[in-house]
Amino acid sequence: MSEGIEICVIGSGYVGLVAAVCFAEIGHQVVCVDNNEAKINLLNSGGVPIYEDHLPELLRKHSQRRVRFTTDLGAAVAQSEVIFIAVGTPQGSSGSADLSFVEAVVSEIAAHVKSYKVLVEKSTVPVYTNEWVTRCMLRHGVSPDLFDVVSNPEFLREGTAITDFLYPDRIVVGANNERSARALQRIYEPLVNGDYYASHTAMAGGRTEQMPAKLLVTSAQSAELIKHASNAFLAMKISFINAVGNLAESVGADIEDIAEGMGLDSRIGSKFLHAGLGYGGSCFPKDVAAFSCVAQQQGIDFQLLEEVRKVNSLQKEVFVQKVRSALWTLRGKKLAALGLAFKAGTDDIRESPAIDILQKLIEEGCKVQAYDPVAMEKAAALLPPSPNMRYVSSAFEAADGADALLILTEWPEFAGLDLESLRSMMRFPICIDGRNLYKPSVMREHGFTYMSTGRPTAHPDLVSKASSGKSPWPQTLHVLEIGRRDESTLSNLPTDQAQAQ
Ligand SMILES: NC(=O)c1ccc[n+]([C@@H]2O[C@H](COP(=O)([O-])OP(=O)(O)OC[C@H]3O[C@@H](n4cnc5c(N)ncnc54)[C@H](O)[C@@H]3O)[C@@H](O)[C@H]2O)c1
Repeated sequence: MSEGIEICVIGSGYVGLVAAVCFAEIGHQVVCVDNNEAKINLLNSGGVPIYEDHLPELLRKHSQRRVRFTTDLGAAVAQSEVIFIAVGTPQGSSGSADLSFVEAVVSEIAAHVKSYKVLVEKSTVPVYTNEWVTRCMLRHGVSPDLFDVVSNPEFLREGTAITDFLYPDRIVVGANNERSARALQRIYEPLVNGDYYASHTAMAGGRTEQMPAKLLVTSAQSAELIKHASNAFLAMKISFINAVGNLAESVGADIEDIAEGMGLDSRIGSKFLHAGLGYGGSCFPKDVAAFSCVAQQQGIDFQLLEEVRKVNSLQKEVFVQKVRSALWTLRGKKLAALGLAFKAGTDDIRESPAIDILQKLIEEGCKVQAYDPVAMEKAAALLPPSPNMRYVSSAFEAADGADALLILTEWPEFAGLDLESLRSMMRFPICIDGRNLYKPSVMREHGFTYMSTGRPTAHPDLVSKASSGKSPWPQTLHVLEIGRRDESTLSNLPTDQAQAQ
C-alpha cells in the first residue's frame, strides 16, 4: 500500500467517524476532531457513540494507533496535510442547507493554517459551497497559495457505512486544480489500485483486486451537484413506488409484484423500489429540500422535487389513516410499535417516519408500547417515556394486550416473529405493516387482519375456521362472528374487522 498521509477529519458523527477509521484501515494516520467533549472522551475510553456494523472492530484495531480523537482542532489542523470537514449540514428554516457548522469550522481552520492544506468538503453541501469556503479562508487572511478546497461527497448508507466506504460504487473528487486532485487520489489509492482488496487483512466486501473502486475527477460544482442529484434521484424512486403502491392498493393489485416486474428491467433496477413509509433519516429529506432551494435560487423550475417531497409526507398520513380505519376511533387504543429507527441497521432516528407516525397517534390519544433493537435510547429524547409512550424490551412485550401491531422499521428480527405467540398476546389480531415484511396469505393463515402497503388487506378466514368447530382464533374473533348478527357488539369492534364481514 502507498505511504500513509496525515489526515484530519472534523466531526465524529456517522460520516466523520466512519471516514476516520476507514482512512486508518487503508493505511493513513488520522486525527478525528469533535467539539463534543463527551463524545471524544467516550471514544478515547474505548466506547462507540453510534450503532454501526463493523465500527467497534475497526475502532479496536486502529484507535490510539492510526486514529486518535481530540477536541483540539488547532493542533490537529497544524499536523495534517488534508482536512476533511464532516460536520452536520441540517435543513435551515427556508429549506436550504444550514452551513453555519461548516462556516464555524472553516473559520477555526483558517486561524491555524501555517503551511499548505487541502480542505475537503465531506459534508453534503449545495453547489458553490466550495467557493464560499475559499472566500471565507481568504477573508480570514489565509494566503491563497496555502490552501485548496476540494469537494469529496460521501455516499455511504447508515447500517452498511463501513463496507460502503471501503467498497464504494464510486469516489467523486471535485477539484479545480491538479495539485489538490492529486492529494485526494493519493488518499484513495489503495481502493483504486486494488491494493487494499488484495491485502489479507482487508474487511470482507464486494470488490476484488481486479475490480477496484472507480475514482471520478470533476469540477467542484459538478461534484457538489452529483451528491444532491444522486440523493434526490433515489428519493424520487422511493416516492414513485409509494405513489404506485397507493394506486395498486386502491385497484387490488400487489405492489411487490409490480416492483419486481419493474425492477427486472435493467434500465430501472430493483433497488429503492420498496413501497413503505417513505424516506427518512438525516439525508434524503434535507437534501431534497436543499436541492430544491438551489434550483429556485438559480431560477430553474424543478417542480418534480416538490412532488417527491409531497408524496413522501403524504405516505405517513396514509399510514395513520390506515390505523384509524382499522381501529375506528383512536383515543385510548393500545398500539404495539415495532421499530423506531428510520431504517434497519442503525440507531439513527432523525426524520424517522416511525417517530412522526407515533407522535401523531399519541396526539390522537393512543397508548404506545414500542420496541426497537437499538434506537430506543435516542428515540426517548424525542418521545419521552410517559403513560402513553412506554419502551419495552421485546416485540412480544410490545404486543401484550395491544389493539393493533404496527411495523414501522424493517429490522430482520421483525420479519421472523412467532406469529402464533404474537397473536395470542394481542387483544385484537390486527397488524398494520408499513414495511411489507410479511406475505398477506401467511398473516391470514395465522389469524391476522393484515394491512400492508400497496397490497390488498388480508382478513382471517373466519367462516371456514369457525365452522370446523376447532377455531384456532382467539375469542375476540368469535365475537366478530356473532357481531354479524348483533349490531351492538359490532359497534365495539375495530371498523376494519367490521368491514371485513
Ligand atoms: N449520515 C449519513 O448517512 C450521511 C451520508 C452521506 C453524507 N452525509 C452528510 O455528512 C455530513 C455529516 O453527517 P453526519 O450524519 O455524520 O452528522 P452527525 O450529526 O452525526 O455528526 C456531525 C458531528 O460534527 C460535530 N461538530 C459540529 N460542529 C463542530 C465543530 N465546530 N467542530 C468539531 N466538530 C463539530 C458534531 O458534534 C457531530 O459529532 C452531513 O452534511 C450529511 O448530510 C451523511
